[in-house]
Amino acid sequence: MENRARNTFVLLTIVFAFALQCVSADANTNVASSAASNNSASGVPAPANPALSNPAPANPVPAITLTPSENIAKTETAPLTDNSVSKNIVEIDVYYEALCSDSVKFVSNQLMPTFKKLNKFINVTFIPFAQGNITVNPDQSLNITCKRDGECAADRVHACGIHKIKDSEQLIKFVNCSLSEGYNSPNKTVPIDLCGKNSNIDSAIITEITNCAANNTESNPWLQDYKNKSSTANVTNVPKVVFNKNTTQDFASTVPFMNAVCKEIPDELQPEDCKTIHSGSDTLVIGVLPIIIGVFYFIKLI
Ligand SMILES: *[C@@H]1O[C@H](CO)[C@@H](O)[C@H](O)[C@H]1NC(C)=O
Ligand SMILES: *[C@@H]1O[C@H](CO)[C@@H](O)[C@H](O)[C@H]1NC(C)=O
Ligand SMILES: *[C@@H]1O[C@H](CO)[C@@H](O)[C@H](O)[C@H]1NC(C)=O
Ligand SMILES: *[C@@H]1O[C@H](CO)[C@@H](O)[C@H](O)[C@H]1NC(C)=O
Ligand SMILES: *[C@@H]1O[C@H](CO)[C@@H](O)[C@H](O)[C@H]1NC(C)=O
Ligand SMILES: *[C@@H]1O[C@H](CO)[C@@H](O)[C@H](O)[C@H]1NC(C)=O
Ligand SMILES: *[C@@H]1O[C@H](CO)[C@@H](O)[C@H](O)[C@H]1NC(C)=O
Ligand SMILES: *[C@@H]1O[C@H](CO)[C@@H](O)[C@H](O)[C@H]1NC(C)=O
Ligand SMILES: *[C@@H]1O[C@H](CO)[C@@H](O)[C@H](O)[C@H]1NC(C)=O
Ligand SMILES: *[C@@H]1O[C@H](CO)[C@@H](O)[C@H](O)[C@H]1NC(C)=O
Repeated sequence: MENRARNTFVLLTIVFAFALQCVSADANTNVASSAASNNSASGVPAPANPALSNPAPANPVPAITLTPSENIAKTETAPLTDNSVSKNIVEIDVYYEALCSDSVKFVSNQLMPTFKKLNKFINVTFIPFAQGNITVNPDQSLNITCKRDGECAADRVHACGIHKIKDSEQLIKFVNCSLSEGYNSPNKTVPIDLCGKNSNIDSAIITEITNCAANNTESNPWLQDYKNKSSTANVTNVPKVVFNKNTTQDFASTVPFMNAVCKEIPDELQPEDCKTIHSGSDTLVIGVLPIIIGVFYFIKLI
């Protein structure tokens, strides 16, 4: 008699504990700002149907080990030598193609807004040739082919801009403009003059880029270099976005992209713009864990 009542109570309590955990996990994703839930770098433990696989009361152990240790570990790699804390911290490699619509959208909708807010914390490297092929002809000249009509020429404009423009803000603006304007132009040609002026680039540099874009001898080695890098990084689809040279992960489809970048910035350097979108995994541990542990001990008491 007494036994059955106790079993029922234990069962109800376990169900209650799981229910609480689920509610909290939902709240979590809200805090972390919806779309970022697909980001495999997230420290949030997957709430994967525990009721089916775990008969024991909400095994809290994984939750404890998942606290902010990941962020703290990153601190060592941060170049903290500069007191102004304005050195670039997150290396962002963007593999793309000049006439690929997803590349155009990524740079314009995700990378530009992120750069505007976090430019002091990131170092963006552009690699504008990934899906084309380069072979050597019998006469030793190069046979360079691209996926889309006009794309090799457009890639060359990007390569020239990357090698001639020294200021990172001017360069990212030039790349954004060249992508959008080139993609939207009827003959798929990058308007170098227009984009140079839009990006506040010196007219002398604009001339250099224009000459360079017409000189394959100058840009060929750069395209070869990009092809080598893309092959090493296993790039198949573009854009592909890699943080800190770790090519096993691609952040290009992470929306909003800024969340993914914020996660790479050490806790103690988190800028204001990142704080409002911080991960909610701490909430889970601090808020719900004590309740579950409390319930667990309560059951043992009975
Ligand atoms: C996660 O992203 C992949 C592509 O990167 C997409 O196919 C998949 O549907 C996404 N899953 C969720 C749950 O958003
Ligand atoms: C990026 O390019 C788009 C399309 O041309 C433009 O609307 C946007 O203003 C550009 N972004 C910046 C920050 O220049
Ligand atoms: C940015 O990355 C490039 C390529 O990895 C590197 O050469 C450059 O020194 C970096 N710039 C800064 C300011 O860290
Ligand atoms: C260049 O390569 C493509 C395939 O990659 C081939 O179809 C084409 O014939 C080659 N052109 C020359 C001049 O060898
Ligand atoms: C490059 O070569 C690969 C493998 O041979 C082929 O699948 C792809 O279509 C080629 N791309 C271009 C743009 O020629
Ligand atoms: C492409 O079109 C623009 C005007 O829209 C023109 O100025 C430019 O010369 C054209 N380029 C080529 C290669 O046809
Ligand atoms: C093209 O570039 C090569 C290598 O940088 C250079 O030697 C050559 O003078 C350039 N040609 C023209 C016409 O500018
Ligand atoms: C790219 O790789 C090829 C062989 O894989 C090598 O011959 C070539 O020198 C490399 N080019 C550059 C610019 O790194
Ligand atoms: C690229 O892919 C190959 C096999 O698909 C794998 O062995 C290699 O480790 C990958 N390289 C990188 C840098 O991810
Ligand atoms: C790269 O990312 C993967 C997946 O997150 C991780 O398992 C691996 O340890 C990382 N590699 C390095 C060198 O940081």
